[in-house]
Amino acid sequence: MRAMDLIEGEEELIHTAVGAVLQSCGTGRESLIPVLQGVQDRLGYLPRLAMQRIAGDMQLPEVEVFGVGTFYNQFRLNPPGKHRVEVCLGTACHMMGGHIILESFERRLSIHEGETTPDREYSLERVACVGCCALAPVVVVDEKVEAKVSPIRVDGILLTFEIEKKEQEAEQQREAEQQREEGREA
Ligand code: FES
Repeated sequence: MRAMDLIEGEEELIHTAVGAVLQSCGTGRESLIPVLQGVQDRLGYLPRLAMQRIAGDMQLPEVEVFGVGTFYNQFRLNPPGKHRVEVCLGTACHMMGGHIILESFERRLSIHEGETTPDREYSLERVACVGCCALAPVVVVDEKVEAKVSPIRVDGILLTFEIEKKEQEAEQQREAEQQREEGREA
């Protein structure tokens, strides 16, 4: 799995989060899982830097902290994307081509399941049955269920987000220009 680069200001956030969690949970070895949970709750995932800092402060070998962080499914090693794509690979969805849908997302986003795009726009996960097998193959995007998804629909879902993003960027640019204009007039 690809390790994510930190974004601006994230290093400081990580140190603040780890410091606060260690203060409330303590630094004894028995606190390791609660500490990892607490840090993930604050940051949304467990960055490598956080695990290194935890190992240092708890005086544990890094390999032990990384071992626990990677052993349990509850821990995320990549940041959640702005858009979370969950492809159902339960039995019904698998039979109806869920793996083809997963591959379509992997190809379009250039990431593998469990990863996040470098711009943190999308994270891609496989999930077990989400309880609407009659709609297979199912994808849950930002908690919205997409039914009977085809590879063409994958393109459609991503295109919608791309258009939204471009519109938002254009809006932000308009606002910035307006503020500059107002600044010149004042
Ligand atoms: S197997 Fe996908 S919704 Fe049940």
